[in-house]
Amino acid sequence: MLITDLIAKKRDGFEHSREEIAFIINGIGNGTVADYQLTAWMMAVCCRGMTDTETAYLTSAMVDSGETIDLSDLPGVKVDKHSTGGVGDTTTLVVAPLVAACGGTVAKMSGRGLAHSGGTLDKLESVPGVCVEQPLERFKHIVRETGVCVVGQSKNLDPADKKMYQLRDVSGTVQSIPLIASSIMSKKIASGADAIVLDVKTGSGAFMETLDEAVRLAGVMVEIGKAVGRRTVALITDMNRPLGMAIGNGLEMKEAIEVLSGKVPYDDPLTSVCFELAAQMLKLSGLAADKAEAIPMLKSAIESGEGLARLRRMLVELGGDPSYVDDPEKLVSVNRCIPIRAEASGYVAEMDAKLLGTAALLLGAGREKVEDSIDPAVGILMKKRYGDRIEEGDELAVFYVNDETDLAEAERLFRLGITIRDDQPEPLPLVYDVIE
Ligand code: URA
Ligand code: CA
Repeated sequence: MLITDLIAKKRDGFEHSREEIAFIINGIGNGTVADYQLTAWMMAVCCRGMTDTETAYLTSAMVDSGETIDLSDLPGVKVDKHSTGGVGDTTTLVVAPLVAACGGTVAKMSGRGLAHSGGTLDKLESVPGVCVEQPLERFKHIVRETGVCVVGQSKNLDPADKKMYQLRDVSGTVQSIPLIASSIMSKKIASGADAIVLDVKTGSGAFMETLDEAVRLAGVMVEIGKAVGRRTVALITDMNRPLGMAIGNGLEMKEAIEVLSGKVPYDDPLTSVCFELAAQMLKLSGLAADKAEAIPMLKSAIESGEGLARLRRMLVELGGDPSYVDDPEKLVSVNRCIPIRAEASGYVAEMDAKLLGTAALLLGAGREKVEDSIDPAVGILMKKRYGDRIEEGDELAVFYVNDETDLAEAERLFRLGITIRDDQPEPLPLVYDVIE
């Protein structure tokens, strides 16, 4: 087989065989496929697409490119969740300990922030001392002790995805349903979960901006999961506005602690989406028959304090300083808190999640380049939600700031991301669809 023939074949819109796809993916590891050839082939995939069968072959070739984690010696159904990436999307820090508190087993490998979207590992590291790189045996030990552990992916997991992602990020080939589906599902399958709940975001702050694309992506991922014998469900959730009130790592950890402490109403958007995701996880774990049975279990895990206790124990096992959980103000101690006030009266009619995420990134909450470091304490705390009434001069948000270099640009993008109108906007759904 020749790689140049395979690139041309996809360029001309033909379908690959399993052997051809394995040849390309194996070629990443053994050096027979150069970066520029892989990039050219991925661009052909972007333009021509792939059948569901090709996408499944691609996913299993990526899984086979590195080590796979065996969690079979841990008790119960191992359940994982994955978000396709959002802003103020703090669900893992709430959902993982809550599911553990209800008897579930959550052994999860997470990622870092990408562009304007946040990453769970960065949020965990907002607690001083936390180390997200743990040997496999230590990871399993923490799961046995606390029912939950969230760490980084081991170095040798899915090396094909690491290379493909790095090239896609800089070659205009991120936005492709088969490439996104195989990237996410190969990592989930390689990291060993029996059951997977996918949170596919749609809207201005998501990688899939339209509902139609999000539904197609979810369908492809659910089919891949089923084909390899993993129980998989996808929720399509809204990312036309930030999900929670906090954007920034320490701010989001603090918000998660507040949700788990019962300080946030159950009908709050972040809490509602957490309950939806956790209910699916309990269902796939065989711990609840349906959502109606799961929700009271989740509420009592908050009211008893068990959910928060699981998060605290996990953070301590990862090396974290528990005084930051007990006094979450310490997570967001900054030089200056700057109120951002409304310049007009009306209703908050639009919140562009991508622009708000980018504003927080400029304050130091995210990375512009892979090697940039993050300031865990900085970010944006929203004071108003989508649809809220606001008067001129009222606080729209508070910026938590240390380095003021990009402050003016952050404020400009933030204001660009907020639209105030005279009429109250229609409520947006939080969950558009569930794909099983
Ligand atoms: N997240 C991933 O892990 N991969 C993608 O391709 C997009 C989002
Ligand atoms: Ca910067």
